[in-house]
Amino acid sequence: MLKKSTVFALSFSALYSITAIAQDQPSSGKYNHFYSSSPQDQKRVSDIVQNMSLEEKIGQMTLVNMATIKKESIPGNWDAIEKYHIGAILADGDEMPETGKPNLPDWQTQMQAIGSHNVTLANNNKIHIRLLLGTDAVHGDQHVANAVIFPHNIGLGATHDPELVKQIATWTAYDIKHSGFNWVYAPTVAVVHDYRWGRTYESFGSDPSWIKRFAEAYILGAQNSDDEKHQLRGVLTSTKHFIGDGNTDDGVDEGNVTVNDEAQFIKENYAGYEGAFSAGTGNVMISYSSINGTPMSVNKEYLKKYLFAEDDLVPRFNGFTVSDYTAITKAVYARHQVFHETLADAVNAGLDMIMVSQYDIEKASEDPALPDHSSNLSAFQAALKFDHDLPDGTPYKITEQRINEAVTHILQVKLAMGLLDSSQATLTPPEGNEDEVALKAAEESLVLLKNSTKEHQPVIPLTPEIKHIVLLGKVDDIGILCGGWNINWQGHEGNQYHTDDKASSILTGIKRIAPPGTEIIRELDTMKQLDLSKYTAKNTVVIALINEPPYAEFMGDIDNNNFNYNFAINSNLPPVEPGSLIMNFDDQPLGIIKSFKERNIPVITILVSGRPRIVNSSEDAPFNISDAFIAAWLPGTTGGEAIANAIFGKYRFGSNTANTLSVPWPKDMASIETGRLVCPSIRKIDDEQANAFYDCGYGLTT
Ligand code: GLC
Repeated sequence: MLKKSTVFALSFSALYSITAIAQDQPSSGKYNHFYSSSPQDQKRVSDIVQNMSLEEKIGQMTLVNMATIKKESIPGNWDAIEKYHIGAILADGDEMPETGKPNLPDWQTQMQAIGSHNVTLANNNKIHIRLLLGTDAVHGDQHVANAVIFPHNIGLGATHDPELVKQIATWTAYDIKHSGFNWVYAPTVAVVHDYRWGRTYESFGSDPSWIKRFAEAYILGAQNSDDEKHQLRGVLTSTKHFIGDGNTDDGVDEGNVTVNDEAQFIKENYAGYEGAFSAGTGNVMISYSSINGTPMSVNKEYLKKYLFAEDDLVPRFNGFTVSDYTAITKAVYARHQVFHETLADAVNAGLDMIMVSQYDIEKASEDPALPDHSSNLSAFQAALKFDHDLPDGTPYKITEQRINEAVTHILQVKLAMGLLDSSQATLTPPEGNEDEVALKAAEESLVLLKNSTKEHQPVIPLTPEIKHIVLLGKVDDIGILCGGWNINWQGHEGNQYHTDDKASSILTGIKRIAPPGTEIIRELDTMKQLDLSKYTAKNTVVIALINEPPYAEFMGDIDNNNFNYNFAINSNLPPVEPGSLIMNFDDQPLGIIKSFKERNIPVITILVSGRPRIVNSSEDAPFNISDAFIAAWLPGTTGGEAIANAIFGKYRFGSNTANTLSVPWPKDMASIETGRLVCPSIRKIDDEQANAFYDCGYGLTT
């Protein structure tokens, strides 16, 4: 079988004839993707590439955020798109419409304005190339106020319901298209190994076999591709972050994976990509993290071996790749190079499109070998051009063939998305009801870890005799139920962006379902002055919420959440002091809890977090002092209603395979620090150190 490297030594057209032959043959079907286009489509792309100038090709390889385009455009215009021949724009984690309001009409107006700019080829003004418009809608259309926010992936993992994830992806695709985007930077298919990692919640869990199923379901739902017609009718997915982002040493985000056994590493981390490739993801985002010291952005060996390798005569993945935000600059620091050297290594390793940040632009502008020190986007593009123009034989040359290959990968996908044609498919909403899908997902994501018996029956579901509910914690906050990537990169606390009644805090949910006349006590001062004699185990329950604050990426790392250190702004800074996953009540609520426990009144604790926490470290620790304990993860805007429904019994834990752990629950830091607390399916045999407090698949029923 021809290896890809040999094939690319042949002429460009020869490659596609081989693929075309492969396509025409009844391939095994598992890799017959929407963008494995027909011979005529391949010729159409080839003709376009041949009509493109070098600047236009470099423009298609450039992905940049809205702020950079705005900075270099005439006010109120977006003309820098044409000036730099831009092929793709993202709304990064903190970006908002120019109005400063993240409302749907403001987004629609802005994205329509941006999307109206496209590249018309200088050599052929009949050829127009429209923009890819990307967003991190990792749990719903998170840039838009009052959008439905679904549970983050770690909770979806606990549903063990790929069909539900497919529905979520379908709704997410519809919502972001309705907002004006056509590319979602999801799914994350990381296998989480160490919960000190700030992105634990973006992983579907730590059992690769389930991640493979979720990846496939998400991509089929979001892309809604017609492989026969080679059309993508939904939005383009970006499967990320290739590879090993969830397996770094000590869970350091963007850190290094020490790989001693490559086969075991692949067994533990690759399954999500298999699911993604079989479902036809059109894009893969390359991880910041390194393997044995080599950043993935320049890791030609792993990209060639596990991303581009051919199988069944059809490439395993032949969409296009994209780097992560600032990843080139981070690799420059890691390799002590100048910008254009690392950029060339990245493109030659297989990166087709570069997600360019202001840090990259600055780094390119500082590169003494480059001609452009303007701190403008032109400095980045000059770096790509410089690497291409170097005389033969120099180490950092990017060949014409490599540039054509990268642009072909991108245009093949754009063709299938209709971005090379003026027509836009009409947008029709999916079947069913989005709010119901979100509530079902939130309910199925909850895991009941403890449910003691009181007065001869389990604490959950509550009995109709309960007339008094004492609520502790931030029970009226929808922002904390959503976590990171919610309007803001780091998310937010409060309800300011979730003002309609589709969204529910825990308090809202309880008020909706509690029988009329139920007394709800929330104020600590009131609790302290209560005459407790009327409150008994039969008529009263305490519901205590403990939560992590919203966070995203390395800012959520337990041991590495230093922005300046991470963005190499000041790489001399040491990472933050080692932290801990141990979590306890604060003194005030603990005192109140104890006062009710003295009257044998049951206590239900709800943990809202992006990951398991160690909640059994002492007699007064939340798990130990509570009579019932729910891991709610980050359930999203319907989370309050879901939690209330589960506590009152309107929803019963354990329907089908739902409500079971997607990750093992740790008993102590030691079981984390060994780095071996993974699901039994990939646990080394008889690895006693790894045994968990509760294993994958655990969850009580009601
Ligand atoms: C971020 C993340 C990546 C995201 C991208 C665009 O740094 O690593 O997951 O898709 O940048 O926001």
